[in-house]
Amino acid sequence: MASIGVFDSGFGGLTVLKKILQKLPQYNYVYLADSARAPYGNRSKETIYTFTKQAVDFLFSKNCELIILACNTASADALRRIQQEYLPKKYPGKKVLGVLIPGAQDAVALTKNDTVGVIATYATVQSNAFERELHKLNTKIRVVQKACPLLVPLVESNEYELPFAKTILKQYLTPLLKSNIDTLILGCTHYEILIPTIRSVIGKNIAIIAEGAVVAHRLSAYLDNHPEIEIKLTKNKNRLFYTTDVTSQFETMGQLFLGSSFSAILTQWTESIPNQS
Ligand code: DGL
Repeated sequence: MASIGVFDSGFGGLTVLKKILQKLPQYNYVYLADSARAPYGNRSKETIYTFTKQAVDFLFSKNCELIILACNTASADALRRIQQEYLPKKYPGKKVLGVLIPGAQDAVALTKNDTVGVIATYATVQSNAFERELHKLNTKIRVVQKACPLLVPLVESNEYELPFAKTILKQYLTPLLKSNIDTLILGCTHYEILIPTIRSVIGKNIAIIAEGAVVAHRLSAYLDNHPEIEIKLTKNKNRLFYTTDVTSQFETMGQLFLGSSFSAILTQWTESIPNQS
């Protein structure tokens, strides 16, 4: 019963899971939201690494073969260390992938004036991970980044359709518009839900990169290229949703992100993490 694990600090990763389920419905999935400790976006790199490592332990203990960090903050601050140090030592043969590189690849393919905007959490912007990945693909790209710490609470509190949401977005996006970006990466999984308001602020001519569809596409290609992993995955469409905080709120808000209802299971780290060292 090997599954694909999907992790986010909270609800946002469900926007990625939604697109993955549309593209690859046949597999079993285990989703984990660390709702009790979300948001991660204003935390230190070290804390984000520790929390993400615990999430990885949890999902591997639930028999996941492959984990997607459906969280830019975790992908920016923890993924490389997990891939290079933690997996070889503790889980040789298992895989953890992130959401950041697929978004950067799409942006480089789409930009015509080599000017790419990135909106993300404070931690993701501080990590400079998007700039690094974009420059690996094309050194000429000008990257204009903006941390938007109010957007995750706006979405999680379900207040993102109120008029002040547009005011906040205008404030965040104006410097990017002044820098003449032609492509905008939504560098946080929560922001997909804000696309209509973002579109109304930036107009029609700027390409928006939302990670859900891009990640689903890349995961499909990854499994095609790695039959040794694909063969281990169970294909009976099982879905399990874990949260580290109150399940009813996770279910109500999660529906909005996933586009369908589900039942969540409450888990507590101390009970379920085999080894937090
Ligand atoms: N899902 C996270 C991301 O994509 C944002 C939420 C948080 O700050 O924890 O960066």
